[in-house]
Amino acid sequence: VAYLISLLSASRREACSLIPEAWRFDCYPERGVVVTRELCEARNCCFIPASSPSSSATRPSGRNGIPWCFYPQDFPSYSLVSINDTSLGQKGTLVREVKTYYPADILTLEVEIRHETDTRLRITDPSNSRFEVPISVPTATKKAESPVYTIEFSKQPFGLIVKRSSTGAVLNTTVAPLFYADQFLQLSTSLQSQFIYGLGEHRSTFLHDVHWNTLTMWARDVPPMEQTNLYGAHPFYLAMEDGGNAHGFFLLNSNAMDVILQPAPALTWRTIGGILDFYVFLGPDPASVIEQYVEVIGYPAMPIYWALGYHLCRWGYHTSNSTWEVDVQWNDIDYMDQFLDFTFDSTKFGTLPDLVKDLHAHDQRYVMILDPGISSVQPDGSYWPYDEGLRRDVFIKDAEGKTLIGKVWPGLTAYPDFSDDVTHEWWHENLQRFHEKVPFDGLWIDMNEPSNFLDGSTNGCPSSSLENPPYTPGILGGLLRAKTVCATAQQKQSIHYNMHSLYGLMEAKASASALKRIVAKRPFVISRSTFPSQGMYSGHWLGDNRSQWKDMYTSIAGILTFNLLGIPLVGADICGFSEEPQEELCVRWTQLGAFYPFTRNHNPQDPTAFSPLARTAMKQALLLRYSLYPVLYTLFHHAHVHGHTVARPIMFEFPKDVKTYGIDKQFLWGKSLLVTPVLDPGVDYVDGYFPEGLWYDYYTGDSLHSKGEDLRLHAPLDKINLHLREGSITPTQAPNLTLWVSSGQPLHLVSALSDDGSASGDLFWDDGESIDTYENNLYSYIIFNVTQSAAEQAVNKTDILSSSKVVAANMLPNSCLFTCPTHTHTHTHTPHTHTHTPHTHSISIYF
Ligand code: NOJ
Repeated sequence: VAYLISLLSASRREACSLIPEAWRFDCYPERGVVVTRELCEARNCCFIPASSPSSSATRPSGRNGIPWCFYPQDFPSYSLVSINDTSLGQKGTLVREVKTYYPADILTLEVEIRHETDTRLRITDPSNSRFEVPISVPTATKKAESPVYTIEFSKQPFGLIVKRSSTGAVLNTTVAPLFYADQFLQLSTSLQSQFIYGLGEHRSTFLHDVHWNTLTMWARDVPPMEQTNLYGAHPFYLAMEDGGNAHGFFLLNSNAMDVILQPAPALTWRTIGGILDFYVFLGPDPASVIEQYVEVIGYPAMPIYWALGYHLCRWGYHTSNSTWEVDVQWNDIDYMDQFLDFTFDSTKFGTLPDLVKDLHAHDQRYVMILDPGISSVQPDGSYWPYDEGLRRDVFIKDAEGKTLIGKVWPGLTAYPDFSDDVTHEWWHENLQRFHEKVPFDGLWIDMNEPSNFLDGSTNGCPSSSLENPPYTPGILGGLLRAKTVCATAQQKQSIHYNMHSLYGLMEAKASASALKRIVAKRPFVISRSTFPSQGMYSGHWLGDNRSQWKDMYTSIAGILTFNLLGIPLVGADICGFSEEPQEELCVRWTQLGAFYPFTRNHNPQDPTAFSPLARTAMKQALLLRYSLYPVLYTLFHHAHVHGHTVARPIMFEFPKDVKTYGIDKQFLWGKSLLVTPVLDPGVDYVDGYFPEGLWYDYYTGDSLHSKGEDLRLHAPLDKINLHLREGSITPTQAPNLTLWVSSGQPLHLVSALSDDGSASGDLFWDDGESIDTYENNLYSYIIFNVTQSAAEQAVNKTDILSSSKVVAANMLPNSCLFTCPTHTHTHTHTPHTHTHTPHTHSISIYF
């Protein structure tokens, strides 16, 4: 018998060793455990200490190395026992015969495949007895007629193989066993390439590293650092395939989870609750994948026009004084009385109401911070938000049903439960009452992970499988409750265990709808914590970065990723949040920040703190942004209506050029404005990649023909390199100090002609602040085309618009974003100054 057993285990070990290292799926993901052969084999897994030095037996967090304990080929999984056609696709039953090593396996599962559109597939578990993320998604009513995909099933073990009809498999879940236990759900898939993006919120390069990289999702208040769960959770990735095709995958699940990338390449979703409900988007190009994803999660709101101006903020304005020449002035928690929401410090900020009125008198706006924690220790009857909140029962409860108390800036606090409509109403009333005193214009919602200076609550948290699940993802602090409220806390819609990462989304929803009611304009909300569909309610900033060159560089990846995630209104704290930036860094960062879709300085050093030279360079960069306002605004319109990105990865426009796949030091605005910032100290040049084609220097009009090359560009301290792609027409505006003031300035069209002499572009405008102008048909949209003959005409000073197609020019009768037409379409041709290039034309059009 002993001989037989040893023979068996020898053949088993041989079978194990045949599994290539890159394809070993981790059977012992628990952290802080030294995985021994005994422990591993008790799970019926293969144990092979991997040869590579990067491998490890313990995994504190993040990059793990090759697992020593991994699933054998025959590890028990589910079998597909029946499958039937439905009106939308198929429905099947899965059965697991052998339990896993986690408690509460769900042994019988339903799987439903919905062919929702020709490019969108949803695979879900139709049993609704488990928690499902409460966001609204489109309901498909009939099966896609000519899908670009097919689905194949593996019956034993169960697996799905999604194929792009034209090229083959994009997804194959047979690569590792499926887990579906109450608190451990796991699904793995092979990937088509190592090019994976998305999966926010993390600090990393734009392109994720697939070498044993674990990305954990669970909203967390922490200054951004690599390999750590940060403020938001976005279980969506974009994957490139061979030949420039792309697909996307969205796991609609809000529980704490790990996403593991390994070099096979393969990806594993490991979540500790909810259901496996996922979408596959077939693109076929990366931009279409994002459009399809945004169609599901909801289109980003059209921002109010001043959202795109320059915002100045600081933590540590000691009084309500000093503004700079900005569009929007902000206040951090300093304005509050003892950090209490909906109050202001009447000694130091006594003039706040006047300050806000004064800002308004100068066409400037005021945004104030709000933290969700409501002080619970003010004398009875003295603090309406808490007293009334208690009365209306709006606060999150602990496991025993008492108001859960944590600690934030004002001391002990209760947390509003934004999953309850009653709370939305109470939040609105608080805002309304405060607005009567300080007529703020926008809201900055911070600390909404929700953040807690304690772990759990003043009473800790009870011990239960929710607080200490059988498996805890790689969360900073090792516990779900780390620096937040208890997982067992109770919210209207579910336990906090399920709702945690949705807190920022739900607060943003309450804030946007309250603000909309109060100001009757498009609400401006910037939120720290985010979840899919957040773009409908708020923008985002990348949190507490540092005044370091590296932080400036990584901000680009952050901004591009959030554009993929349907939150295009995003920026990082320009010049850094903590530490004091050197002047050179702050100048370079202001130049880059001028191209963040959302541009805010939130540093103790604002631009006025620097030398005249630096100030001039910074102001120049901001004026450049203001001059490009028409194109930026138009891009936001396309984000709102079509789900386009605003700040765009170069690969989106050149998906067949593999050299663009890793670029995160340059990016585009839309399809044709290429931004190449300086990201290093002490240099007056910058290297940038120019995809194949003709590019024009934005300032000089000089053209360059690239074969797809890296080029070194001159970049003195007062210059950020900007290039126009051939074939584009960019609407610009003479800048002024604030966007609204500058509305009196003329519009220009800058045409960057392609070799055949053609170019096109467009412009969206409306009154800049009314709600739903597009939806209510209260806007103008103009497409400009230049053809060779028209270009010649333009040079000959004839009417360029004679070849333009005016598509939907619903001219607003009384209000115009730029300036009201005093006469209809007089077009003046600005003399062509760029004699060295025959290709660019700048044409001024005065409306
Ligand atoms: C944390 C935020 O991330 C930061 O921007 C803010 O200044 C501080 N909280 C203080 O409110």
